[in-house]
Amino acid sequence: MSNEAKLELDGKTFTLPTITGSEQERAVDVSSLRANTGYITLDDGYGNTGSCVSKVTFIDGDKGILRYRGIPIEELAEKSNFIETAYLLIYGSLPTRPQLKTFSDLLAEHQFLHEDMKYHFQGFPTGSHPMAILSSMINAASCFDEGLMHWQFGKMKQFDIYVAKLISQVRTIAAYSYRKSQGLPLIYPKQSYKYTPNFLHMLFSMPYEEFDIKPEVAKALDLIFLLHADHEQNCSTSTVRMVASSQANLFASCAAGVCALWGPLHGGANQAVLEMLADIHSSGDDGSKFITAAKDKNSGKKLMGFGHRVYKNHDPRATIIKKSCDEVLSRLNISDPLLDIAKKLEEAALKDSYFVERKLYPNVDFYSGIIMRAIGIPVEMFTVIFAIGRMPGWIANYKEIMEEPKSRIYRPRQIYTGKTINSYVPLDQRK
Ligand code: SDX
Repeated sequence: MSNEAKLELDGKTFTLPTITGSEQERAVDVSSLRANTGYITLDDGYGNTGSCVSKVTFIDGDKGILRYRGIPIEELAEKSNFIETAYLLIYGSLPTRPQLKTFSDLLAEHQFLHEDMKYHFQGFPTGSHPMAILSSMINAASCFDEGLMHWQFGKMKQFDIYVAKLISQVRTIAAYSYRKSQGLPLIYPKQSYKYTPNFLHMLFSMPYEEFDIKPEVAKALDLIFLLHADHEQNCSTSTVRMVASSQANLFASCAAGVCALWGPLHGGANQAVLEMLADIHSSGDDGSKFITAAKDKNSGKKLMGFGHRVYKNHDPRATIIKKSCDEVLSRLNISDPLLDIAKKLEEAALKDSYFVERKLYPNVDFYSGIIMRAIGIPVEMFTVIFAIGRMPGWIANYKEIMEEPKSRIYRPRQIYTGKTINSYVPLDQRK
């Protein structure tokens, strides 16, 4: 394997170093390109550009491989849980029993928001989208914390406390965002509950009646959090890194990640999938009309939950979620016509040359919404669930930037295609 690349430009030959990762991925290091050649690279959508080296997650899109710190997602889904996996992603190895206890105790200690945050929730109109509330309230929460307001990037002795605060409070803020959007009273976290059951409690209990938390429901939701926990340099994680590179504090960087995740091409896809299935169902279409429309560029429709920038084979998370979907619905004795439509769409698409030629397969969002609907999560909360799950991955990436001594601010270049030199025209002379 070559450790350098030759580049012929304007009759000259330039040598660029290459880098090989621990999984034999290779890159041409173009850090010196502009200084040596005056050229920059251009890569629409960054499909061919690595923004960093990272030790957190590895994906092989052709083989459908996803590993957190080297552990296959299938093993973690079967044997681990969300909080243990969050620790693995952030600190690099599975926690020992004492480490897990310390982490869990920190999460419990920091699960309450400052009481005055309630007044901020009151400011949102009923019906506000919970993702808008979530992103703004993560930043609002930092206003109640001296350490976040005077963040000393890289010198945070108490960084672990801020990790626990953010993971714990994002869940409390999310639950409150839902309650606020429904005009319901806020339900406080219960000290005796573990992370995911506590979230269900805050979402669905009432002041006079505790929600009956079924173990299979808590387990299914915990699995969804775990499967969403990290995914290399996706749109929202790259956003977190971009903001972190300016040395903004942890809460501000992850609040930016929430905004990026909201888009329907990214984390908003799970909500878009359910809306797509519901539209197909209400129109009486068996899915075939929709598939035809999704192949027509002029229709403005896409088969939401299908396709992926990296996976050109199956998304291993979709396989796990589809299995969990069948299990949860049969255990809860629910038959959902939208699941039947989803399965028909998947079957049809996997045989259709348009999708096969473009290597479009179901991604993590295709079935996750059906489980969330079955366990009672409202559709406008689907992307919030994704954000709670992705928080450990965002934090792990923030930590990598903070701990990298040579970390530089992210500042991509561009190729300008606008007007060349122009001059000011006084108002009364403009046509
Ligand atoms: C997530 O990056 C991550 O890791 C993301 C994520 C994570 O964990 O962080 O995995 C989570 O965001 C999953 C993706 C959720 N989004 C959706 O399900 C929305 C629907 N999917 C598409 O919008 C699309 O597939 C993307 C955004 C996921 C990927 O887009 P790309 O890589 O830019 O691919 P593309 O748009 O260039 O598509 C290539 C071709 C095009 O057709 P041609 O121009 O070649 O004729 O495939 C077509 C596209 O039109 N295509 C689709 C399609 N997805 C791509 N056609 C119909 N339906 C689709 N879903």
